[in-house]
Amino acid sequence: MENNDNKSKGVIIEVIDDGPLKITGNFILKDLKRDLTDTPEEVYICRCGRSSNMPYCDDSHKK
Ligand code: FES
Repeated sequence: MENNDNKSKGVIIEVIDDGPLKITGNFILKDLKRDLTDTPEEVYICRCGRSSNMPYCDDSHKK
């Protein structure tokens, strides 16, 4: 049920307190430096700058 609701709303960007941006929905993530071509339905984007797997969150913000 939640997935259907998310699709009807397009892309949802959720700001997680002291953590990443959670992006859910049907979208294309482009990162020209890293040649990312996949289009996941859910990603967590680092906001703290400490991830060793940029642009994704690797939970380094919790340390
Ligand atoms: S927000 Fe999680 S590692 Fe940066």
